[in-house]
Amino acid sequence: MASRTYIIVGNKAATAPFHLNDLAGAAGRMDLLCRSVSAAFFLSHDLRRDVVIYLVLRGGPAPPRTIRISGTDVKYMSPDERNIAGLIRKALSVEDIDPRWVVSTPGIQVSSRDLVDLLQGLSREERANPFHLTEDGGPIDEADLGGYVTFLLGDHNGLTPEQEGLIDDWPRLSLGRTSYHTDHCITVLNHTIDMRAAKGR
Ligand SMILES: C[S@@+](CC[C@H](N)C(=O)[O-])C[C@H]1O[C@@H](n2cnc3c(N)ncnc32)[C@H](O)[C@@H]1O
Repeated sequence: MASRTYIIVGNKAATAPFHLNDLAGAAGRMDLLCRSVSAAFFLSHDLRRDVVIYLVLRGGPAPPRTIRISGTDVKYMSPDERNIAGLIRKALSVEDIDPRWVVSTPGIQVSSRDLVDLLQGLSREERANPFHLTEDGGPIDEADLGGYVTFLLGDHNGLTPEQEGLIDDWPRLSLGRTSYHTDHCITVLNHTIDMRAAKGR
């Protein structure tokens, strides 16, 4: 399997413990982020250990918060939205969150980093082959996805112009002009990377 990192910016996503019964409403489309986590990690009866996902949460009441989930270490996570939401909720209940990463449950960390700090702190590996996934990018079929890849995606509203400015030197790749849900894009990306890896390119 080829290693990959996904960064998802949730501009409305809650930054304090939220109700598990209102993920799409009061929690600021947390449902979409939870489904993205599920799509990034879960295979049928298996979990991708070589995936890292960052969720940049920028809704109220205490933005920003960034959650990091590492497939290498994560435990107690199952594919359903409610389980993943519970783990994110637990991360947001950590007291005195600051820019340092703090482990909330195994494989899940939380910090007060915003997108700009997160991008500056990416590992050399994560910075080696970064892509902005956007409808108006170049065709993914023509891109070299070899080695370690990092993809940044928006939420239901996409990125703000300021956020786009932070990654304006990242190549832009598209899955076509149709606008898909973020979690669906991740499924397509995982499949695309898997197929390329299977063919050795
Ligand atoms: C529902 S879309 C956002 C739509 C939003 N109105 C916009 O204009 O950005 C959510 C995210 O999924 C990704 N996405 C959706 N469809 C895509 C496509 N066809 N090609 C590449 N990325 C796509 C982008 O990262 C986008 O920010």
